[in-house]
Amino acid sequence: MTRPVGTLRSAIIGFPVAHSRSPLIHNYWLAQHGIDGSYDRMEVAPDAIEAFLANFEASGLIGANVTVPHKEAAFRAAVEHDPVALALGAVNTLWLEDGRLLGANTDVHGFLANLDAAEPEWDRALDEAVVLGAGGAARAIVYGLLSRGAGRVTVANRTRARAEALQAQFGDRVLPVDWRDMPGRLNGNRLLVNTTSLGMKGQPPLDIDLSSLSPDAVVTDAVYVPLQTPLLAVAKARGLKTVDGLGMLLHQAVPSFERWFGVRPQVTPELRELAIADLKAKGQLS
Ligand code: ATR
Repeated sequence: MTRPVGTLRSAIIGFPVAHSRSPLIHNYWLAQHGIDGSYDRMEVAPDAIEAFLANFEASGLIGANVTVPHKEAAFRAAVEHDPVALALGAVNTLWLEDGRLLGANTDVHGFLANLDAAEPEWDRALDEAVVLGAGGAARAIVYGLLSRGAGRVTVANRTRARAEALQAQFGDRVLPVDWRDMPGRLNGNRLLVNTTSLGMKGQPPLDIDLSSLSPDAVVTDAVYVPLQTPLLAVAKARGLKTVDGLGMLLHQAVPSFERWFGVRPQVTPELRELAIADLKAKGQLS
């Protein structure tokens, strides 16, 4: 594989992309490992993304992350995919190899590695899990839970058809349920995952009765602004284990960085504190 000389340039491509915390993460690791590299934000509009990706080499980037709404376009543009990207039809990591654009999906790794780091026992005898929401984040998370052997993943979504689409994609271990029936489906469950935007700063809280969850259940939220969402606060008050969503963001960056720069970076407490300080400085966390 031929490597360009000079600064190795990477970026996150999205629309919008100004809010992305990924530059902070990757530039921290670049400095930590003394790598002559850069990681920028690149806003590419939906009507320009296909041409941009078709001509990726002209961008001067060695690789890139891709975020909303371009993950499916990145999937179509890549000529080869890792198994997770193939299963999801979505790519969040691109890189060039001998002039060919290749794609992977590290969102599933981010979700699983975050839980592994925070609650190592979380997937022991994981009979049933409940996922709230059925968007892109839920698709990655449902796939991840099935890959770890979950016997059944109940998906509750306001728009039931989207939960049914996940069942159609992943099979009968996925059980779609109506949003209003969800409280009755928590019975004895050991894992509850929120992927909806409820609880995010500026959105209504996710207000559900957690009393029927198993006493050793883990509750986790893909939302990380605020870090402690109303859902996590209620779970904590009940004595349940909670895992916030910031770790998912940090961990999904690991395989991308390793792919581009050849070093597997660590998610350290220092990096987490840096991300929190940045969110506070931008007025997103108090
Ligand atoms: P992502 O790709 O980040 O998962 P998304 O596709 O916009 O984002 O999905 C957001 C999720 O939050 C969806 O499951 C959405 O439900 P719908 O599929 O019915 O839109 C859910 N959501 C957003 N606002 C909600 C609300 N007020 N009540 C319940 N669910 C809500």
